Amino acid sequence: MAVRKVLRMGHPTLRRVARPVSNKEATSEPIARLVEDMVETLHDYGGIGLAAPQVNESIRLAIIEIPSMGSRYGDLEPMPLTVFINPVVTVLDASTSGYWEGCLSLPGLRGWVERPQHIRVDYKDLNFGSHSREFGGFQATVFQHEFDHLDGTLFVDRMTDTSRLVFEEEYVKYGLSDTLDE
Ligand code: NI
Repeated sequence: MAVRKVLRMGHPTLRRVARPVSNKEATSEPIARLVEDMVETLHDYGGIGLAAPQVNESIRLAIIEIPSMGSRYGDLEPMPLTVFINPVVTVLDASTSGYWEGCLSLPGLRGWVERPQHIRVDYKDLNFGSHSREFGGFQATVFQHEFDHLDGTLFVDRMTDTSRLVFEEEYVKYGLSDTLDE
């Protein structure tokens, strides 16, 4: 296992549309190793989600792990470490809510992004088994953020008001987190 370097905004791989993972590939040793590295990288960098393109692998795979508490987003509904292969998001309710999003590929920045809060995700696991799950609230936001990476989209592309793109230091200093429940 190894901590991989997380690419930062400006690296071309972050802007590419990643390719799907095949059944044979999903169950292969290289993918198992990649997932191990991604888990170690996620823990080392201290995030809640990581998409393969962020470690320079342009394939449709992402991992998400929402700790029960103590994340930089405060107390949230936890989610154990889960691997998502070839995920497809379907919006079930178009009404949106906003959160201050961060991204390991845009270190030190936060931006206010509004996204649909009720989605279905169809995806494959590491055995290429099919799953279909619904997610709401902040979890819906996390999934859309991670899966956007598979299409070369970053959270700044989803912002409608760039005056709400800020540095984390100022975010804390000026109490912007108080607007989380807006
Ligand atoms: Ni991100």
